Amino acid sequence: MANGVKKKIVLAYSGGLDTSVAIRWLQEKYDADVVTMTMDLGANTALDDARQRALRIGAIRADVIDAREEFVRDYVWPALQAGAIYEGVYPLATALARPLIAKHLVRIALEEQAFAVAHGCTGKGNDQVRFDVSTGALAPHLKVLAPAREWGMTRDQEIDYARQRNLPLKINPRSAYSTDENLWGRSIEAGDLEDPMNEPPEDAFDWTVSPAKAPNEPQYVEITFRDGLPVSVDGEALSPLQLVEHLHRLAGAHGVGRIDHIENRLVGIKSREVYEAPAAAVLHAAHRALEYMTLTKDQLRFKERMQQEYADLVYNGLWFSAHRKDLDAYVRSTQQYVRGTVRVKLFKGQATVVGRDSDVALYQHALATYDVGDTFDHRAAEGFINIYGLPVRTQARVQGKGLDK
Ligand code: ARG
Repeated sequence: MANGVKKKIVLAYSGGLDTSVAIRWLQEKYDADVVTMTMDLGANTALDDARQRALRIGAIRADVIDAREEFVRDYVWPALQAGAIYEGVYPLATALARPLIAKHLVRIALEEQAFAVAHGCTGKGNDQVRFDVSTGALAPHLKVLAPAREWGMTRDQEIDYARQRNLPLKINPRSAYSTDENLWGRSIEAGDLEDPMNEPPEDAFDWTVSPAKAPNEPQYVEITFRDGLPVSVDGEALSPLQLVEHLHRLAGAHGVGRIDHIENRLVGIKSREVYEAPAAAVLHAAHRALEYMTLTKDQLRFKERMQQEYADLVYNGLWFSAHRKDLDAYVRSTQQYVRGTVRVKLFKGQATVVGRDSDVALYQHALATYDVGDTFDHRAAEGFINIYGLPVRTQARVQGKGLDK
């Protein structure tokens, strides 16, 4: 540029092949400086290595951000309270992380007066939608660049590209699967999993033992909730991050949280998705059990309808939307009496709720019991049924025949 100051792009950098190549590709294609942002969301990656690599490839600034607490507190916890599970099985780990990554990309882009943010997504998945739409919601003036959606290089061509330019890469041996992980879950795709008739092989899993090899003795864990959020495990108060990590270890050791799904992507493709989400499996089960103790039937029925809406919205990249805020306000209101303790049994791949207790339970022993101490007015049932069944009897009298088939 005339004044010698280059345009800037802020790239979400994982440290892997695609985004390493992207640093140089963006510099060349846009004659721009590249700033990278690598985020710690609880995956076991060498973050400092990634930072050094970004700088050696030519990034002018390489941030590493530990966003684990923020991720749990502001993204995972609201989704847990909402009961957000996509298509009834997927706890949305990747989908929840993308808006948080976008938020920090945008923050740095504003600091650096960059004209664009960039990410390494291809054109086939949901993640590109989540990044692009989230960025648009937070900073509509920013461009979003997706090199891997444009450049049309195969993996081998990317490696050639990097060799020609002497880029310091960490090329892992080609993995049998494509994975993404953060502290809320791990996703495994591609390879042999693309045949939906193939049972996921053991080597697809990293966080959970095979249920067949899990301990032969069950383990019980007691989780205490306040305002619909877990605050302690077995009587010990834990931070949100500690709590997720603790349950991850306990449940993973019992093979809990494996999921095998044919998933409907936003871009119209059905794909075979395998997940491991041990902490999410336990926490969603426990949270739901406590809601059944403390919410009325009407609240439960309505919230269940809303849950699917909430999960779809997160999956479809609409985290930063007024719609999500509206739903959150409703969810928060439902959670004010969701408190108490839930006992979960971990055994051979299953997390089963076996006990629950709350000082504000709507389950009342005196009403439920068939033993002495019953306070339910049995005679009142007669009048209730008389009125409740009135429309059915009326219809039978007037329109009569045919109703018995
Ligand atoms: N199917 C899941 C989702 O859309 C997982 C995606 C994992 N992303 C990835 N780039 N491998 O949320």
